[in-house]
Amino acid sequence: MKSLGIKIYGDKLLRSKSKAVEDFGSDLSPFLEQMIETMIIEGGVGLAAPQVGISKKIAVINPEPENTATLIKMINPRIVSTSDEVETLEEGCLSIPGIRGDVVRSSAIEVVYQDENGREHNVKAEGLLARIIQHEIDHLNGVLFIDHLSLAKKALIKPELRNLLHGRGRER
Ligand code: CO
Repeated sequence: MKSLGIKIYGDKLLRSKSKAVEDFGSDLSPFLEQMIETMIIEGGVGLAAPQVGISKKIAVINPEPENTATLIKMINPRIVSTSDEVETLEEGCLSIPGIRGDVVRSSAIEVVYQDENGREHNVKAEGLLARIIQHEIDHLNGVLFIDHLSLAKKALIKPELRNLLHGRGRER
């Protein structure tokens, strides 16, 4: 197993809107497998393609990394409904090592996505799964979890973000 390598905060791709996948050809499945391997090696519960340098609407998600039954591969995902109810939970991100913070997100969502064969799926998610999906779809829109932090917390992490920009981030 080999990691594709993770783009770290400061990389332009992390702030770019990813392009929709139109070609469901034979390159897609191997790329998804590489993303899954990378997610496992890096110790994440989700990974979006821009985090490995590919600006396409692709994400892999697994709230239980050791359980293949809970793995979801999402192509062109979009949230079609969100609950009024919200939840606050601490998040981190493989692309922003060493920084964690409380993020308020919808408790439940409904998402439409395609699988590697282009077939459309519709899934209702709540709790941790709903949170991870929202975090990864944010990545596909160039949004990072730090954008959702309180103003006070944003001020607090400013020096750490500056260190990441200058390549002096904490070792993972
Ligand atoms: Co992330």
